Amino acid sequence: MTTSNDPYPIVFSRGKRVSLRPPQESDIPRVLHWLNDPGTRRFLSRVHPLTELEEKRFLETTATPGGNHQPFIIVESETHEPIGCTGLHQIDWVHRRAELGIFIGPADKRGLGLGQEAFELLIAHAFEGINLHRVTLTVFAFNDAGIRCYERIGFVKEGVDREAQFVEGRYVDVIRYGMLAREWFARKNNVSH
Ligand SMILES: CC(C)(COP(=O)(O)OP(=O)(O)OC[C@H]1O[C@@H](n2cnc3c(N)ncnc32)[C@H](O)[C@@H]1OP(=O)(O)O)[C@@H](O)C(=O)NCCC(=O)NCCS
Repeated sequence: MTTSNDPYPIVFSRGKRVSLRPPQESDIPRVLHWLNDPGTRRFLSRVHPLTELEEKRFLETTATPGGNHQPFIIVESETHEPIGCTGLHQIDWVHRRAELGIFIGPADKRGLGLGQEAFELLIAHAFEGINLHRVTLTVFAFNDAGIRCYERIGFVKEGVDREAQFVEGRYVDVIRYGMLAREWFARKNNVSH
C-alpha cells in the first residue's frame, strides 16, 4: 500500500489536496471496511455484503487496459493516505460515455470539498485524458451533500426515476445527472479567464 513513507508513491492524477491512483490488492481490506459500513452504503446501490473475493474479482476485471471500468483510490496528496474511491464505470468506447461513482470513506473527511476535488480530477481524466463525450451519475434524492457537490461541479439534472430504489425500508427517487465534454471545457475556460 502506498503511504507517506513509500519511496515510490503511485500517483495517476495529482490534485492540490487529493490525488487519484489505481487500486492495489492491499487496498481491499480498507475498501471492504468502507463499503460494508451502513453509513456509507446507504448512499450507494449496495444491498449485498461485499466480500473479499468479489472485490478481488472486480479488480481482476480492471487489469486489462481498454476494459469498461477504471477504478481509482482517492488519497490525500500530502500523505498518500487513502480516503475513498472513485471511478469510471460502464465505459462505452464507441459512444464515448461512462457512469461515474464516488465515495469518501471516513465520515470526518466528508463535506470538506475533497469529494469535489477528486471528482474534478476524474472528470478531467474522462474528457481530457480518454476523450469521452458524456459522463453520467445517479444519486438518491435524500443525498443532499452529493447533490450539492454535483451541481456545484456543473452537472445538469437530466431526470428523476421515481421511487426506483428501495433504501432502508422505503422507495426513494433516483436523480440522474449528466455532463457533456463541451460543458466541461466551457466551464474550465470560464474559470481560468
Ligand atoms: C457525496 C460525497 C462523495 C461528496 O464528497 P464531499 O467531499 O463530502 O463533498 P464536498 O465537500 O465537495 O461537497 C459537499 C457539499 O454538500 C454540503 N453538505 C454536506 N452535508 C450536507 C447536508 N447534510 N445537507 C446539505 N448539504 C450538505 C457541503 O457543505 C458541501 O457544499 P458547500 O461546499 O457548498 O458548503 C461524500 O459526501 C460521500 O462520500 N458521501 C457518502 C457516499 C456517497 O454519497 N457517495 C455518492 C453516491 S451518489
